[in-house]
Amino acid sequence: MLNLLEPFKITGKSILQFLRACIGIFTDNFLYLVRWDGSGDLQKWQVLHQGFPLKIKQSTHQMGLTENYLVLIDTAFKISVEEILPTRPNKKSAQLEKWLRNIFDHPQLKDNTVYIIDRRELLTGKKSVQAKKVTIPREAAHFLVDYRNPDDQITLHLAHVCAWDAAEWVTKFDDASPLDKTGTSPLYGAIAGPMDISKLGCHVINGKTGQFIRENQDILMDKDYTWGAAIYAYRERPFPDRLEDIYWSCLGCWADLKTPHIEHLYNHYPYREVGLEELDEITTQGKPSTLFRLHIAPLDQVAEDENRLSIADGYQFPEGHWVVSPQFIPRPGTEGSTDGYILCVVHSDESAEPQKTNGNELWIFDAADLKSGPQYKLWHEQFNVGFTIHTAWLPQIKKRNASYCIEMRDDYADILNQQSLENKALIQDLFENWVYPKKEPGTEQNR
Ligand SMILES: [Fe+2]
Repeated sequence: MLNLLEPFKITGKSILQFLRACIGIFTDNFLYLVRWDGSGDLQKWQVLHQGFPLKIKQSTHQMGLTENYLVLIDTAFKISVEEILPTRPNKKSAQLEKWLRNIFDHPQLKDNTVYIIDRRELLTGKKSVQAKKVTIPREAAHFLVDYRNPDDQITLHLAHVCAWDAAEWVTKFDDASPLDKTGTSPLYGAIAGPMDISKLGCHVINGKTGQFIRENQDILMDKDYTWGAAIYAYRERPFPDRLEDIYWSCLGCWADLKTPHIEHLYNHYPYREVGLEELDEITTQGKPSTLFRLHIAPLDQVAEDENRLSIADGYQFPEGHWVVSPQFIPRPGTEGSTDGYILCVVHSDESAEPQKTNGNELWIFDAADLKSGPQYKLWHEQFNVGFTIHTAWLPQIKKRNASYCIEMRDDYADILNQQSLENKALIQDLFENWVYPKKEPGTEQNR
C-alpha cells in the first residue's frame, strides 16, 4: 500500500509553491457561497463586505439558516501554519516541529465575526452578494439559530468557549504520562482542557441593520456545569420554529489536559472570568463532564434586565467518565422539546467502572429528567469508538432512493490527470486499489 506518512520530497518547485501559499494566506481572500437544489447545477456567489472579499481568519465551522437569512461565523477553530508543514519523523524534525509550534501557534481570536447574508438577495445570474458584519464578544465554536426571524430578528445561540481551544490537543511534546503496552501515551491526541469557564449566549440581531435587539446580551455560566461547552442536541423532528431547549455536553476541567503550552497561550485571556489561581485549584480538584438542558425563555416574556437563559435540568458524570455526542431521539406521537431521550457516547477508564466494560458505552437519558441519571447503559465488546463528535438520528433506515449519482472515476479523473507523472503513478495506485474498490486498511485480506 502507498505509505501516506512518507515525507514529501523537498524540491525547488515545492519550496516555491510553499512560499507562494504563505504569501497567499495574506492576499488571497475569498468566501464563496454555493447552493444546490439536489439535482440541477450548482449556483455560486462570492460573499463581499462593503464591496471587498471576506477574509476568514480561522474557519467557518458551521452555517446557520433562518427563513430569510444565512449566518456565517469566523469560528474558534483556528488553523496554525505548523500543523500543515510536512516533517520527517526523526528526532531533529521533532525538535524543529516543537520550535515551529512555539513560534507560529497563537490563541484563538477572542471575538466572533458574524456575517449575515439576506437569502432574498441570492439571485440567479448574480455573481456576488453583500454580507452584514457583526461582532459578538467571546469566541464560539458551535452555534445554532432559530429558523423563524420575525421582523427580521435573527436569534443566535452560541457556546462561548472562553479560552477553551478545541484546535489544541495533547501532543508528544506535552504528554508526560507513562506509555502503554503499544508504546503510546494514553492521553496522546486528547483535546486540551479549558483555561476559563465556558458561557452560553443568546443574541438577537436585526438582519437588516446588523444591530443587537437587546442591550444586555443573555449570557449564562455555571461553575458546576459549563466547562468546555462542546456539542449540542435538540429536538429536530418536527423542526422547531424557535429553540426552547438546547442540550449541551461539556468536557469538564481536568489537570491532565492543562498543559504548559495551553497555559502559555491563554494566561492573558482578555475576558478572564475565573482567576488563574482559582482555575488552578478547580483544575487540580477536577470538574466532571456534564450534560444539561439550557432553557431559553421567549423574548416577549422577559423583562429587559431579565436573563432569558437558565439551566433547567442537568447531570454530572461520575469521576473518570467523559461524555460526547449527545443526540435527541423523539418519543413517537409527541412534539414537545423535551419529549424524548438523549443518547450519548460515554468513555471511561477501567478504574472508573466497578463492572468492567471496554470503556465505550452508550447512555440513554430521559430528556425531561436528566438529573435522575441514565435510564439505560449499553456496551458491547465490539463497540469500540474514538472521538465521535457529531451525530444524526433517523426514524427509519431505508435504502437510498435518490437518482443523483456521480461515478467516482469521472469525479476524480481531471484532478488525477493534472498530477506529475511520478505522483500520478503513486496516487493512481491508491485510487485503483483502495478508493474505487472502497477498501479499508486493517485486514490482511485487503493488503
Ligand atoms: Fe463541530
